[in-house]
Amino acid sequence: MGDSSISIIGAGYVGAVTAACLAELGHNVCCIDVDAEKVDNINAGIPPIHEEGLEELFQKHAGKMLVAATDYTSVADSDVSFICVGTPSAQDGEIDLSVIKTASKSIGISLRNNEKYHVIAVKSTSVIKAASKSIGISLRNSENYHVIAVKSTVVPETTQNVVIPIVEEYSQKRAGIDFGVAVNPEFLREGRAVHDFVNPDRIVIGELDKRSGGVVAQLYEGFDCPLIRTGLKTAEMIKYASNAFLATKISFANDIGNICKELDIDTYEVMHAVGLDHRISPSFLRAGAGFGGSCFPKDMRALIHKAEELGYRPKLLRSVMDVNEGQPKRMIRLLERKLGNLSGRKIAVLGLAFKNDTDDVRESRAIPVIKMLTDKGARVYAYDPAANENMRPIFPNIRYHSSAKDALEDADACLVMTEWDEFKKLGDEFKVMKNRIVIDGRNIIAFREHIDYEGLCW
Ligand SMILES: NC(=O)c1ccc[n+]([C@@H]2O[C@H](COP(=O)([O-])OP(=O)(O)OC[C@H]3O[C@@H](n4cnc5c(N)ncnc54)[C@H](O)[C@@H]3O)[C@@H](O)[C@H]2O)c1
Repeated sequence: MGDSSISIIGAGYVGAVTAACLAELGHNVCCIDVDAEKVDNINAGIPPIHEEGLEELFQKHAGKMLVAATDYTSVADSDVSFICVGTPSAQDGEIDLSVIKTASKSIGISLRNNEKYHVIAVKSTSVIKAASKSIGISLRNSENYHVIAVKSTVVPETTQNVVIPIVEEYSQKRAGIDFGVAVNPEFLREGRAVHDFVNPDRIVIGELDKRSGGVVAQLYEGFDCPLIRTGLKTAEMIKYASNAFLATKISFANDIGNICKELDIDTYEVMHAVGLDHRISPSFLRAGAGFGGSCFPKDMRALIHKAEELGYRPKLLRSVMDVNEGQPKRMIRLLERKLGNLSGRKIAVLGLAFKNDTDDVRESRAIPVIKMLTDKGARVYAYDPAANENMRPIFPNIRYHSSAKDALEDADACLVMTEWDEFKKLGDEFKVMKNRIVIDGRNIIAFREHIDYEGLCW
């Protein structure tokens, strides 16, 4: 299936997974990242992130089908470059496109420095008209129609209005003539990223022209799923609409869960039955501490900002965010109801990653919870099976432990923030606590007999 040459710009979660999976499919992949340590690690077969199956792929392909560099020289010689750099929130929720702009500029410079194009330009000076026509035809037919595929999540119109003009300016080439452009949003779930890359529900390709889309579509030949080929801004919007809908389901489940709690109804029983309706589906109906991660919160903010910039106030999307912000506060309220003043109390926080099976702490719900605890004078004893080190720069002054039991030792209470499998098995470990108060933010604790258990929405 493989044998294309591919550059991956930005070797973070999306870039590293895309690179490893495309190498596995037989393509020659070069990861480009500004982080020299990451690049050295990739070349040594060490993946930059913790994801099931990724280490095996890196060890198998590093130095062969998969290499890494800090410079953009590979871009001009590749068939496709995937832009996979971060698109975080700016101060007011607006999408921060600064890294996208820098990457676009570097791609442009690399394409400009491509000798093949320079030679054609020099030759064309003598018989300018005929030559220009031939160049156009030749470039169109050329194997070297480099396609820039935007995988980063960017608000609609970004590729057309930001990426293309920057690449054109720095490459001195024209989109649709000298190089192609596509938008190929990524829908992988962290924790299941490798699996999701090779088993997608659908592949979406927004294309500047058929040729650009065709080059990207070829990379996915043999994938058994619907392939949607559409325009650039439609593909960009599909990604936002998907994330907004999933975030809405979570906040809906939390809103219903909060009502259920007041009525002493098990919201999980309710949502199990609700999810059996095929129009609804059982996914994303688990009430709890809310959504975090590198995507939902910032994508929601970016979409809301974009809508408001256009003069539309998206009331539903704003409420989804409001419900989400409220869930960590509810955890602290439940804790205070049990313990009273938190000042000086020792609180164990189990789970720092924004979800299980990842070391990613970006916008983890543990962050507002730990912040509220420390603001109230509590002493926080934290444990996560994979994410302690990633949380340390955010909260350097709390205690980190290497097991749940260590964190629970002598604790006044415990907050469970992440659905790690190992937390399901916790039982005897709670016996080392001073007060066995457990506030469960994820409905994960199975042994509830000998503890003072409190579910967040159940
Ligand atoms: N994380 C996810 O699960 C996920 C899923 C779907 C889509 N996305 C989207 O994909 C994009 C990337 O997300 P991520 O989580 O992989 O980000 P990330 O922060 O993990 O990785 C970005 C990488 O880009 C590198 N980088 C920064 N500036 C660069 C430059 N000028 N040139 C080359 N590399 C540079 C960084 O060093 C980093 O390694 C975002 O737009 C995100 O919204 C993420």
